[in-house]
Amino acid sequence: MSVTANSPLAGQRILLCVGGGIAAYKALELVRRLRDAGADVQVAMTAGAQQFVTPLSFQALSGYPARTTLWDSAAEQAMGHLELARWADRVIVAPATADLLARLAHGLADDLVTTLCLATEAPLAVAPAMNHRMWKHPATVANVELLRSRGVQVIGPDDGPLAEGESGPGRLAEPEAIVAALAGATAPAAGAGPGLLQGLKVVVTAGPTYEDLDPVRYLGNRSSGKMGFAVATSAARAGAEVVLVAGPVQLDTPPGVQRVNVRSAAQMRDAVNAALPADVYIGAAAVADYTPRAFSPNKIKKTGTGETLALDLVRTPDILAEVASREDAGLKLVVGFAAETNNVADYARQKLEAKRLDLIVANRVGVPGTGFESDDNAMTAYWPGGERDFPPAPKLRLADGLVELVAERLRADAR
Ligand code: C5P
Repeated sequence: MSVTANSPLAGQRILLCVGGGIAAYKALELVRRLRDAGADVQVAMTAGAQQFVTPLSFQALSGYPARTTLWDSAAEQAMGHLELARWADRVIVAPATADLLARLAHGLADDLVTTLCLATEAPLAVAPAMNHRMWKHPATVANVELLRSRGVQVIGPDDGPLAEGESGPGRLAEPEAIVAALAGATAPAAGAGPGLLQGLKVVVTAGPTYEDLDPVRYLGNRSSGKMGFAVATSAARAGAEVVLVAGPVQLDTPPGVQRVNVRSAAQMRDAVNAALPADVYIGAAAVADYTPRAFSPNKIKKTGTGETLALDLVRTPDILAEVASREDAGLKLVVGFAAETNNVADYARQKLEAKRLDLIVANRVGVPGTGFESDDNAMTAYWPGGERDFPPAPKLRLADGLVELVAERLRADAR
């Protein structure tokens, strides 16, 4: 046994919930791998899981009796199920069947496993495994999206041969990969110290907004949302309670982050207002500046002779400026982003003042390898009386640096 004492999972108490699928046998291997990483593992099984593997096998590997039902008075006497839910530092459901995902998504608590998942405050991860048609069914897709939006980590599934002889996405991720994914989500951020933002609430906006013209067209921009998601990840790792208001992007919800999906600038403003009060506001979204004056309920047609089309647009609310001018939102620090193509420092400082911000983060767009869709970026932060350069680095590293700066500025000038 190769004990990895320096794994982020070392000393973690992990509750493994096993669902009723053929891949349940791989959960045995998962227990071994988690223990090899230094974790303390207890196992709870659904009734279906017990059709595939025995509680005794899990007991032998984990060193604890496997829990199988809510109604076992001897087991409850030893450790009540609510106590077990509190015991866990992390909960992983593997394999998570389509049925189990549906029950988790909708908050059912009709057996031991779903009750534990509802009762725990520990971060939840799921490793789905099922037939590929069930995985692609809109009901499952929606349930997984719902779980993701609540910060649940979704690990896999893999693509490949399935038990019933078909092939496609639906294989349980390999135990080794599940352990690596759990370790990745548990690892403290490289730069931002854990606890830097402990006890603070941070609202982050990310991504573009789409302003609908008609049922098939919209005005949007090229923001990928990666920087805002990295900032949310970093802030959560630094101990903050994070609400991430996300425009339309295809990105996983960072672990432990509460995500609110929006489409338009107007919806983003409403979601931000609903998330306040907070201690820190970080506006990383690329909010559209203009929106159609009126949405056309029918598709706008090409007019017979016209070679041009004039759109009647009106300004969107400046969410950042509105937030910064609010006295009742409890904010100690308001941070804006500025994407500029030239005169970066001048424009950024102008915005800092005009929008009454405490900090602005400027980056030059249009430089190859940085900016909107890239994983890397380079940026400079400005505040009244100071600035800091962040040389080119992956966005998550830059986000760690920004979180450190936010913590510094909070200490320096309480609003
Ligand atoms: O003025 P500009 O759009 O360049 O400012 C960018 C900053 O302002 C970003 O932090 C962005 O999130 C925010 N913003 C906003 N609402 C708008 C436009 C920009 O919150 N309507």
